[in-house]
Amino acid sequence: MKKITIAIDGYSSCGKSTMAKDLAREIGYVYVDSGAMYRAVTLYALSNSLIHDGKIDEARLRDEMKNIHITFRFNPEHGRPDTYLNNEYVEDRIRTLEISEHVSPIAALGFVREEMVRQQQQMGQEGGIIMDGRDIGTTVFPEAELKIFVTASSEIRAQRRYAELSAKGEVCDMADILHNVEERDYIDTHREISPLRQAADALVLDNSHMTIAEQKQWLLQAYKHAAED
Ligand code: DC
Repeated sequence: MKKITIAIDGYSSCGKSTMAKDLAREIGYVYVDSGAMYRAVTLYALSNSLIHDGKIDEARLRDEMKNIHITFRFNPEHGRPDTYLNNEYVEDRIRTLEISEHVSPIAALGFVREEMVRQQQQMGQEGGIIMDGRDIGTTVFPEAELKIFVTASSEIRAQRRYAELSAKGEVCDMADILHNVEERDYIDTHREISPLRQAADALVLDNSHMTIAEQKQWLLQAYKHAAED
């Protein structure tokens, strides 16, 4: 079967990463979580006092972009890649609610997106890659052989996020999480540059009422169909 490029886009917390990671492992493809890259930039900005009272110091961040290097290293323990920022393991630190609360405005900045898209396109040069995000099928890999657009209701996505954070021991409030999910949806779909939208040739998957196993099966079928063409 030929090595194809698979682009998975959709709203936050709709389970894109779980299905993408599982498929990558099953078919031996590289998996890239592009959201992790925007989260790592956000962590850098927060750690270096480039955000004050929610306001981003854009001039300084623009200047600092050359010092931000994001890489992924496959972790055989859980069979998935971990995120590194300037060679430091940050996988856990980029998944907190604090990062989620600051990431959308960072991801809306043109100079941040330009640099991330450049790196993402480089990672996908050889094919055999699954990347998930918001603009993968529309901007990063518009020629991808398989594009999926994943969606689920905001309440269900907030419940999933709540369960995920609680399992990690983070104390969180359901109302705050729902607010964060809806706010991010708004910013992600209304920003000027590469807003989240469904590519015309994407297959839509509404997984509100699907189990993880059902989604996995659905995605595997979609992959087989696309790779055999
Ligand atoms: O998928 P996620 O929740 O980890 O993404 C974090 C943020 O990054 C989210 O608010 C949208 C943004 N993002 C983006 O703008 N473009 C991408 N390709 C991936 C994520």
